[in-house]
Amino acid sequence: MTEVIHDPRAFQQAMERARADGRAVGFVPTMGALHEGHLTLAREARARVGDRGLVAVSIFVNPTQFGPNEDFSRYPRELERDVERCASVGVDVVFAPEASAMYPADERTRVNVRGVSEPLCGPFRPGHFEGVATIVSKLFALAGRSVAVFGRKDYQQWRVLTRLAADLMLPVEVVGVATVREADGLAMSSRNRYLSEQERAKAAAIPRALGEAVRAWERGERDGERVRAGVERALSAVADSIDYVDVRDPDSLDRYAGGDRALLAIAIRVGKTRLIDNVVLGEERAPA
Ligand code: PAF
Repeated sequence: MTEVIHDPRAFQQAMERARADGRAVGFVPTMGALHEGHLTLAREARARVGDRGLVAVSIFVNPTQFGPNEDFSRYPRELERDVERCASVGVDVVFAPEASAMYPADERTRVNVRGVSEPLCGPFRPGHFEGVATIVSKLFALAGRSVAVFGRKDYQQWRVLTRLAADLMLPVEVVGVATVREADGLAMSSRNRYLSEQERAKAAAIPRALGEAVRAWERGERDGERVRAGVERALSAVADSIDYVDVRDPDSLDRYAGGDRALLAIAIRVGKTRLIDNVVLGEERAPA
């Protein structure tokens, strides 16, 4: 039976009670519209805390991480269905707060993580990572000592939150889980539902292009710019616009300066939908 908690203090107390009972807490922050990718994160949280542990999923469409022209108002909200999906994988607690509870009128604090927030999506979504770091700081404060599980599809977010937890000395272990993909390799995302049939077919070029890069890397290619340019060429054929195709150091997100591992990350628009994806060359297999 999945318990649904709306009040932040009640959620915090439930987590404290669980730990006082000797139960480890696994925490999966989400914005809802849950799909198989999220359920994989909940399963990973369960694997980490064991049968006796407590798995909590938060569902909150966080207003501060959306820009003025982004999809905040049309972002799918389907709490009842999400709770059922959580129950199907044995989630113990769903935390679904109101915006006014997470952002009371007199709150003034924002959290910025320098460096890793700045490249890739940083310039294209001003304020986005500040919004993410702020809400996740609040969620971590409520969840307390826990293992928090995020998807590596949002690779930069995962690196930002790893840095945040380390720098603020939070008692939270941040874990990143491999991207869950559709049969043709497209990364699962709550935003895929915005794609028309034709756009969905075009989007399949993303995992194909990443896969080509992985294969080139496996053949010994180490020229980051050549890899980048090849992927950009492939995506130009289907994208309505390209925010970036970039090759970076997978840990610092600094420019790739050689070595056997490199993060290849992309953000493109297909129709009006912004899609992101990535693969760590030298570490992950071809997505398609
Ligand atoms: O990845 C998401 O769903 C969101 O960015 C997160 C981490 C839940 C913060 O709102």
